[in-house]
Amino acid sequence: QDSYRNKVFQLYDLTTKLYHYLLLETEHGKNALNYLIKRGFSRDIIEKFNIGYSPSAWDTLQNFLTKRGFSLELIKQAGLVIETDEGRTYDRFRNRIIFPIFDAQGRVIAFGGRVLDDGHPKYLNSPETNIFNKSRTLYNLHLAKQEIRKRRQAILFEGYIDTISAWKAGVYNGVATLGTSLTVEQAKIIKRYADEVVISYDSDLAGQQATYRAIDILLPVGLSVKIAQIPQGLDPDDYIDKYGAESFKSNILGNSITATAFKLQYIRKDFNLKDEAGRLQYLTSALSIISELNHAIEREHYLKGLAEEFNLSFPSLKSDLDQIYYNKR
Ligand code: CTP
Ligand code: MN
Ligand code: MN
Ligand code: MN
Ligand code: MN
Repeated sequence: QDSYRNKVFQLYDLTTKLYHYLLLETEHGKNALNYLIKRGFSRDIIEKFNIGYSPSAWDTLQNFLTKRGFSLELIKQAGLVIETDEGRTYDRFRNRIIFPIFDAQGRVIAFGGRVLDDGHPKYLNSPETNIFNKSRTLYNLHLAKQEIRKRRQAILFEGYIDTISAWKAGVYNGVATLGTSLTVEQAKIIKRYADEVVISYDSDLAGQQATYRAIDILLPVGLSVKIAQIPQGLDPDDYIDKYGAESFKSNILGNSITATAFKLQYIRKDFNLKDEAGRLQYLTSALSIISELNHAIEREHYLKGLAEEFNLSFPSLKSDLDQIYYNKR
Protein backbone atom coordinates (compact mmCIF):
# COMPACT_ATOMS: atom_id res chain seq x y z
CA GLN A 1 0.00 0.00 0.00
CA ASP A 2 0.92 3.65 -0.19
CA SER A 3 1.99 4.17 3.40
CA TYR A 4 4.27 1.13 3.13
CA ARG A 5 5.98 2.57 0.05
CA ASN A 6 6.38 5.93 1.71
CA LYS A 7 7.93 4.30 4.73
CA VAL A 8 10.48 2.53 2.52
CA PHE A 9 11.29 5.74 0.67
CA GLN A 10 11.87 7.42 4.03
CA LEU A 11 14.10 4.56 5.08
CA TYR A 12 16.20 4.80 1.88
CA ASP A 13 16.43 8.54 2.25
CA LEU A 14 17.74 8.28 5.80
CA THR A 15 20.15 5.53 4.76
CA THR A 16 21.49 7.70 1.96
CA LYS A 17 22.04 10.57 4.38
CA LEU A 18 23.76 8.36 6.94
CA TYR A 19 26.19 6.81 4.45
CA HIS A 20 26.88 10.19 2.87
CA TYR A 21 27.58 11.74 6.26
CA LEU A 22 29.85 8.87 7.29
CA LEU A 23 31.87 9.26 4.09
CA LEU A 24 32.34 13.00 4.24
CA GLU A 25 32.37 13.88 7.91
CA THR A 26 33.74 10.98 9.92
CA GLU A 27 36.86 8.97 10.58
CA HIS A 28 35.03 5.82 9.36
CA GLY A 29 34.85 7.21 5.85
CA LYS A 30 38.43 8.39 5.58
CA ASN A 31 39.80 5.52 3.52
CA ALA A 32 36.86 5.55 1.19
CA LEU A 33 37.07 9.31 0.75
CA ASN A 34 40.78 9.06 -0.05
CA TYR A 35 40.04 6.33 -2.55
CA LEU A 36 37.44 8.50 -4.27
CA ILE A 37 39.68 11.56 -4.28
CA LYS A 38 42.50 9.49 -5.77
CA ARG A 39 40.10 8.50 -8.53
CA GLY A 40 39.29 12.10 -9.26
CA PHE A 41 36.01 12.54 -7.41
CA SER A 42 35.64 16.03 -5.98
CA ARG A 43 33.50 16.92 -2.96
CA ASP A 44 31.05 18.57 -5.34
CA ILE A 45 30.65 15.40 -7.35
CA ILE A 46 30.28 13.32 -4.18
CA GLU A 47 27.50 15.71 -3.12
CA LYS A 48 25.84 15.77 -6.51
CA PHE A 49 25.53 11.98 -6.68
CA ASN A 50 25.01 11.56 -2.95
CA ILE A 51 27.83 9.03 -2.72
CA GLY A 52 28.36 7.47 0.68
CA TYR A 53 30.25 4.88 2.69
CA SER A 54 28.99 1.89 4.66
CA PRO A 55 31.34 1.03 7.56
CA SER A 56 32.83 -2.42 8.21
CA ALA A 57 30.71 -3.14 11.28
CA TRP A 58 27.91 -5.67 10.93
CA ASP A 59 25.15 -3.57 12.44
CA THR A 60 25.72 0.14 11.73
CA LEU A 61 22.65 0.63 9.61
CA GLN A 62 20.46 -1.80 11.51
CA ASN A 63 21.10 0.08 14.76
CA PHE A 64 20.67 3.47 13.17
CA LEU A 65 17.33 2.63 11.56
CA THR A 66 15.79 0.65 14.41
CA LYS A 67 16.61 3.51 16.80
CA ARG A 68 14.62 5.73 14.49
CA GLY A 69 11.57 3.52 14.71
CA PHE A 70 11.89 1.35 11.60
CA SER A 71 11.06 -2.28 12.23
CA LEU A 72 13.67 -4.90 11.51
CA GLU A 73 11.12 -6.60 9.27
CA LEU A 74 10.82 -3.52 7.07
CA ILE A 75 14.60 -3.05 6.90
CA LYS A 76 14.97 -6.66 5.79
CA GLN A 77 12.24 -6.29 3.16
CA ALA A 78 13.98 -3.17 1.93
CA GLY A 79 17.03 -5.35 1.27
CA LEU A 80 19.37 -3.53 3.61
CA VAL A 81 19.68 -6.15 6.32
CA ILE A 82 20.17 -9.86 5.72
CA GLU A 83 19.05 -12.63 8.07
CA THR A 84 21.00 -15.89 8.35
CA ASP A 85 19.37 -19.31 8.73
CA GLU A 86 20.26 -19.10 12.42
CA GLY A 87 18.29 -15.88 12.72
CA ARG A 88 21.24 -13.52 13.04
CA THR A 89 20.97 -10.26 11.12
CA TYR A 90 23.65 -8.11 9.50
CA ASP A 91 23.93 -5.08 7.21
CA ARG A 92 24.08 -5.96 3.52
CA PHE A 93 26.60 -3.24 2.71
CA ARG A 94 29.81 -3.23 4.71
CA ASN A 95 33.03 -1.42 3.98
CA ARG A 96 31.81 -0.27 0.58
CA ILE A 97 31.46 2.96 -1.31
CA ILE A 98 27.74 3.48 -1.73
CA PHE A 99 26.09 4.77 -4.89
CA PRO A 100 22.41 5.51 -4.27
CA ILE A 101 20.24 4.56 -7.24
CA PHE A 102 17.39 6.98 -7.94
CA ASP A 103 14.15 6.61 -9.82
CA ALA A 104 13.21 9.09 -12.55
CA GLN A 105 11.64 11.36 -9.92
CA GLY A 106 14.84 11.44 -7.89
CA ARG A 107 13.80 9.17 -5.03
CA VAL A 108 16.35 6.63 -3.81
CA ILE A 109 15.12 3.11 -4.66
CA ALA A 110 18.26 1.00 -4.23
CA PHE A 111 22.01 1.09 -3.63
CA GLY A 112 25.13 -0.17 -5.30
CA GLY A 113 28.26 -0.72 -3.24
CA ARG A 114 31.84 -0.92 -4.47
CA VAL A 115 34.73 -2.52 -2.58
CA LEU A 116 37.75 -0.32 -1.86
CA ASP A 117 40.26 -2.83 -3.17
CA ASP A 118 40.16 -5.66 -5.66
CA GLY A 119 37.91 -7.82 -3.47
CA HIS A 120 34.92 -9.74 -4.73
CA PRO A 121 32.27 -9.06 -5.71
CA LYS A 122 33.48 -5.68 -6.97
CA TYR A 123 29.93 -4.36 -6.88
CA LEU A 124 27.09 -5.45 -4.67
CA ASN A 125 23.63 -4.16 -5.50
CA SER A 126 20.34 -4.05 -3.62
CA PRO A 127 18.08 -7.00 -4.35
CA GLU A 128 14.95 -6.43 -6.37
CA THR A 129 12.06 -5.27 -4.21
CA ASN A 130 8.55 -3.97 -4.77
CA ILE A 131 10.19 -0.61 -5.34
CA PHE A 132 13.34 -1.58 -7.23
CA ASN A 133 12.88 -3.29 -10.57
CA LYS A 134 16.32 -3.54 -12.10
CA SER A 135 15.12 -4.01 -15.65
CA ARG A 136 13.15 -0.76 -15.50
CA THR A 137 15.83 1.34 -13.85
CA LEU A 138 18.47 3.48 -15.52
CA TYR A 139 21.14 4.93 -13.30
CA ASN A 140 21.26 8.74 -13.37
CA LEU A 141 18.04 9.20 -15.35
CA HIS A 142 16.73 11.70 -12.80
CA LEU A 143 19.68 14.04 -13.38
CA ALA A 144 20.12 13.36 -17.10
CA LYS A 145 16.56 13.39 -18.38
CA GLN A 146 16.45 17.13 -18.96
CA GLU A 147 19.56 17.13 -21.08
CA ILE A 148 18.50 13.95 -22.87
CA ARG A 149 15.21 15.59 -23.79
CA LYS A 150 16.96 18.76 -24.92
CA ARG A 151 19.43 16.92 -27.15
CA ARG A 152 17.04 14.11 -28.06
CA GLN A 153 20.04 11.90 -27.33
CA ALA A 154 21.20 9.68 -24.48
CA ILE A 155 24.66 8.27 -23.84
CA LEU A 156 24.53 4.75 -22.47
CA PHE A 157 27.24 3.58 -20.06
CA GLU A 158 27.85 0.33 -18.20
CA GLY A 159 27.87 1.66 -14.68
CA TYR A 160 28.09 4.27 -11.97
CA ILE A 161 31.66 5.37 -12.37
CA ASP A 162 31.59 5.89 -16.13
CA THR A 163 28.39 7.90 -15.85
CA ILE A 164 29.80 10.09 -13.09
CA SER A 165 33.15 10.50 -14.83
CA ALA A 166 31.38 11.58 -17.99
CA TRP A 167 29.31 14.04 -15.96
CA LYS A 168 32.54 15.53 -14.65
CA ALA A 169 33.64 15.81 -18.25
CA GLY A 170 30.51 17.80 -19.09
CA VAL A 171 28.44 14.96 -20.52
CA TYR A 172 25.07 15.51 -18.84
CA ASN A 173 22.95 13.10 -20.85
CA GLY A 174 24.55 9.87 -19.62
CA VAL A 175 22.68 6.97 -18.04
CA ALA A 176 23.79 3.45 -17.15
CA THR A 177 22.43 -0.07 -17.29
CA LEU A 178 24.12 -1.29 -14.08
CA GLY A 179 25.94 -4.31 -15.37
CA THR A 180 22.97 -6.25 -16.67
CA SER A 181 22.29 -6.24 -20.35
CA LEU A 182 19.95 -3.55 -21.58
CA THR A 183 16.28 -4.54 -21.45
CA VAL A 184 13.40 -3.65 -23.77
CA GLU A 185 11.78 -1.79 -20.86
CA GLN A 186 14.88 0.37 -20.41
CA ALA A 187 14.99 1.06 -24.14
CA LYS A 188 11.35 2.15 -24.11
CA ILE A 189 12.05 4.50 -21.22
CA ILE A 190 14.91 6.10 -23.14
CA LYS A 191 12.62 6.45 -26.14
CA ARG A 192 10.34 8.73 -24.13
CA TYR A 193 13.11 11.31 -24.02
CA ALA A 194 15.40 10.59 -26.96
CA ASP A 195 15.58 9.69 -30.63
CA GLU A 196 19.18 8.53 -30.53
CA VAL A 197 21.38 6.51 -28.19
CA VAL A 198 25.16 6.48 -28.21
CA ILE A 199 26.37 3.25 -26.63
CA SER A 200 29.57 3.82 -24.69
CA TYR A 201 30.38 0.50 -23.07
CA ASP A 202 33.77 -0.87 -22.05
CA SER A 203 36.17 -1.93 -24.79
CA ASP A 204 36.61 -5.43 -23.34
CA LEU A 205 34.90 -8.43 -24.91
CA ALA A 206 32.02 -8.37 -22.42
CA GLY A 207 31.39 -4.71 -23.24
CA GLN A 208 31.49 -5.32 -26.99
CA GLN A 209 29.15 -8.29 -26.75
CA ALA A 210 26.77 -6.23 -24.64
CA THR A 211 26.97 -3.48 -27.26
CA TYR A 212 25.92 -5.88 -30.00
CA ARG A 213 22.95 -7.05 -27.95
CA ALA A 214 21.97 -3.52 -26.96
CA ILE A 215 21.86 -2.46 -30.63
CA ASP A 216 19.29 -5.16 -31.37
CA ILE A 217 17.16 -3.99 -28.46
CA LEU A 218 17.35 -0.27 -29.22
CA LEU A 219 16.68 -0.35 -32.96
CA PRO A 220 13.32 -2.20 -32.80
CA VAL A 221 12.10 0.34 -30.23
CA GLY A 222 12.62 3.01 -32.88
CA LEU A 223 15.79 4.61 -31.56
CA SER A 224 18.70 5.33 -33.82
CA VAL A 225 21.97 3.99 -32.50
CA LYS A 226 25.60 5.01 -32.57
CA ILE A 227 28.59 3.37 -30.97
CA ALA A 228 31.44 5.18 -29.22
CA GLN A 229 34.67 3.29 -29.70
CA ILE A 230 37.10 3.25 -26.81
CA PRO A 231 40.69 2.06 -27.26
CA GLN A 232 41.44 -1.50 -26.18
CA GLY A 233 41.84 -2.04 -22.45
CA LEU A 234 40.00 1.12 -21.40
CA ASP A 235 36.52 2.07 -20.32
CA PRO A 236 35.03 5.57 -20.49
CA ASP A 237 36.31 6.51 -17.02
CA ASP A 238 39.81 5.21 -17.80
CA TYR A 239 39.81 7.15 -21.06
CA ILE A 240 38.74 10.41 -19.44
CA ASP A 241 41.42 9.92 -16.76
CA LYS A 242 44.08 9.33 -19.37
CA TYR A 243 43.18 11.69 -22.18
CA GLY A 244 40.84 14.24 -20.62
CA ALA A 245 37.30 15.47 -21.02
CA GLU A 246 37.72 17.28 -24.33
CA SER A 247 39.29 14.29 -26.01
CA PHE A 248 36.50 12.05 -24.75
CA LYS A 249 33.85 14.36 -26.13
CA SER A 250 35.43 15.08 -29.49
CA ASN A 251 37.47 11.97 -30.28
CA ILE A 252 35.26 9.31 -28.70
CA LEU A 253 31.67 10.58 -28.62
CA GLY A 254 32.22 12.81 -31.64
CA ASN A 255 33.57 9.94 -33.72
CA SER A 256 30.95 7.37 -32.81
CA ILE A 257 30.09 5.02 -35.65
CA THR A 258 26.81 3.63 -36.94
CA ALA A 259 25.32 0.41 -35.64
CA THR A 260 25.94 -1.26 -39.01
CA ALA A 261 29.57 -0.17 -39.13
CA PHE A 262 29.99 -1.58 -35.62
CA LYS A 263 28.39 -4.90 -36.52
CA LEU A 264 30.47 -5.33 -39.67
CA GLN A 265 33.60 -4.65 -37.69
CA TYR A 266 32.54 -6.83 -34.75
CA ILE A 267 31.95 -9.96 -36.83
CA ARG A 268 35.27 -9.62 -38.68
CA LYS A 269 37.22 -11.28 -35.90
CA ASP A 270 35.30 -14.51 -36.53
CA PHE A 271 36.70 -14.86 -40.05
CA ASN A 272 40.11 -15.30 -41.56
CA LEU A 273 40.09 -12.61 -44.21
CA LYS A 274 43.47 -13.68 -45.58
CA ASP A 275 41.83 -16.82 -46.83
CA GLU A 276 39.47 -16.82 -49.80
CA ALA A 277 36.90 -19.08 -48.15
CA GLY A 278 37.04 -16.93 -45.03
CA ARG A 279 36.48 -13.79 -47.09
CA LEU A 280 33.45 -15.32 -48.76
CA GLN A 281 32.01 -16.37 -45.41
CA TYR A 282 32.55 -12.88 -44.05
CA LEU A 283 30.83 -11.39 -47.09
CA THR A 284 27.81 -13.62 -46.61
CA SER A 285 27.49 -12.57 -42.99
CA ALA A 286 28.09 -8.94 -43.90
CA LEU A 287 25.37 -9.04 -46.56
CA SER A 288 23.01 -10.46 -44.00
CA ILE A 289 23.72 -7.53 -41.67
CA ILE A 290 23.29 -5.04 -44.51
CA SER A 291 20.02 -6.66 -45.53
CA GLU A 292 18.58 -5.66 -42.15
CA LEU A 293 18.68 -2.02 -43.17
CA ASN A 294 15.38 -0.53 -44.25
CA HIS A 295 16.64 2.17 -46.57
CA ALA A 296 18.04 1.41 -50.00
CA ILE A 297 20.55 4.23 -49.83
CA GLU A 298 21.93 2.90 -46.56
CA ARG A 299 22.24 -0.59 -48.01
CA GLU A 300 23.98 0.83 -51.03
CA HIS A 301 26.40 2.79 -48.86
CA TYR A 302 27.71 -0.28 -47.03
CA LEU A 303 27.61 -2.39 -50.16
CA LYS A 304 29.89 0.10 -51.89
CA GLY A 305 32.27 -0.15 -48.96
CA LEU A 306 32.41 -3.92 -49.28
CA ALA A 307 32.81 -3.78 -53.05
CA GLU A 308 35.76 -1.44 -52.72
CA GLU A 309 37.44 -3.24 -49.87
CA PHE A 310 37.20 -6.69 -51.43
CA ASN A 311 37.62 -5.51 -54.98
CA LEU A 312 34.32 -6.94 -56.14
CA SER A 313 31.85 -5.59 -58.67
CA PHE A 314 29.00 -3.68 -57.13
CA PRO A 315 26.28 -5.33 -59.31
CA SER A 316 27.21 -8.86 -58.27
CA LEU A 317 27.20 -7.93 -54.58
CA LYS A 318 23.93 -6.13 -55.14
CA SER A 319 22.27 -9.12 -56.72
CA ASP A 320 23.37 -11.36 -53.82
CA LEU A 321 22.06 -8.83 -51.35
CA ASP A 322 18.76 -8.53 -53.18
CA GLN A 323 18.30 -12.26 -52.86
CA ILE A 324 18.87 -12.22 -49.10
CA TYR A 325 16.79 -9.07 -48.73
CA TYR A 326 13.72 -10.42 -50.52
CA ASN A 327 13.94 -13.82 -48.88
CA LYS A 328 13.79 -12.07 -45.51
CA ARG A 329 10.66 -10.09 -46.27
N1 CTP B 1 28.49 -4.50 -11.99
C1 CTP B 1 27.74 -5.18 -11.05
N2 CTP B 1 28.28 -6.24 -10.37
C2 CTP B 1 29.58 -6.63 -10.61
C3 CTP B 1 30.33 -5.96 -11.58
C4 CTP B 1 29.76 -4.88 -12.24
O1 CTP B 1 26.59 -4.83 -10.81
N3 CTP B 1 30.10 -7.64 -9.91
C5 CTP B 1 27.88 -3.35 -12.69
C6 CTP B 1 28.06 -2.08 -11.90
O2 CTP B 1 26.89 -1.31 -12.05
C7 CTP B 1 29.21 -1.39 -12.58
C8 CTP B 1 29.05 -1.85 -14.02
O3 CTP B 1 28.50 -3.14 -13.93
O4 CTP B 1 29.12 0.00 -12.44
C9 CTP B 1 30.34 -1.87 -14.82
O5 CTP B 1 31.22 -2.83 -14.28
P1 CTP B 1 32.80 -2.73 -14.43
O6 CTP B 1 33.15 -2.30 -15.79
O7 CTP B 1 33.37 -4.00 -13.93
O8 CTP B 1 33.15 -1.64 -13.33
P2 CTP B 1 33.57 -0.11 -13.53
O9 CTP B 1 32.32 0.69 -13.69
O10 CTP B 1 34.61 0.03 -14.55
O11 CTP B 1 34.13 0.22 -12.08
P3 CTP B 1 35.67 0.52 -11.69
O12 CTP B 1 36.17 1.57 -12.63
O13 CTP B 1 35.58 1.01 -10.29
O14 CTP B 1 36.40 -0.77 -11.80
MN1 MN C 1 38.86 8.07 -12.87
MN1 MN D 1 32.85 -3.61 -17.64
MN1 MN E 1 34.39 -0.66 -16.59
MN1 MN F 1 36.19 1.50 -14.70
